[in-house]
Amino acid sequence: MKRATAILISGRGSNMQALVRACQDLDFPAKVELVASNKADAAGLEWARQQGLATLTLTRTQGESRADYDARLDRALQDRGIELVCLAGYLRLLSADFTERWQGRLINIHPSLLPSFPGLDAQAQAHRAGVRVTGCTVHFVDSGLDSGPIIDQRALHLEAGESLESLSSRLLTLEHALYPDCLKQVAAQEVQLIDGRAIWR
Ligand code: GRF
Repeated sequence: MKRATAILISGRGSNMQALVRACQDLDFPAKVELVASNKADAAGLEWARQQGLATLTLTRTQGESRADYDARLDRALQDRGIELVCLAGYLRLLSADFTERWQGRLINIHPSLLPSFPGLDAQAQAHRAGVRVTGCTVHFVDSGLDSGPIIDQRALHLEAGESLESLSSRLLTLEHALYPDCLKQVAAQEVQLIDGRAIWR
């Protein structure tokens, strides 16, 4: 049984594309039923439409509180029978009500080896810090910033004098492999959120 999955984006959507492609495999335990964006001009939305996927743009109305916006998002997901939600470059903070409701069924990818370098521009943060090893992380989402229980990580070694552009591009390639792997494990319940930790079967 494939788990009905939504992917939330705000921009380019290259991780969304990697997830969609993985889900096209007949044996993959998840199916993308919705690609939703908080930005009408997110480039990834157009790509998703071209694939024939259901898309939704949910822009924040003037004066709408975070809680009200997230309640609308939650209803949209529930109306479509969504079971799992993947954040893929979704640049809006989610309210604690939302993350609690979706606890264990809401995952995110971040371009650093968390808990190092949470927040924006993680690749640049790592590059500036002069670390020799960095990577990407998929984690369950909690109400903190990039702070939820870690599901899995991939690492790479920086080359001597490597530019930020080169590092970012190599990281993105790693992300495109890691995220589908993690979605597969979560959808197959090979890893679950139990007592605040990601537990593998
Ligand atoms: C990725 O680096 C992801 O880790 C971060 O935002 C970026 C989104 O890129 N959360 P894309 O939209 O998936 O191409």
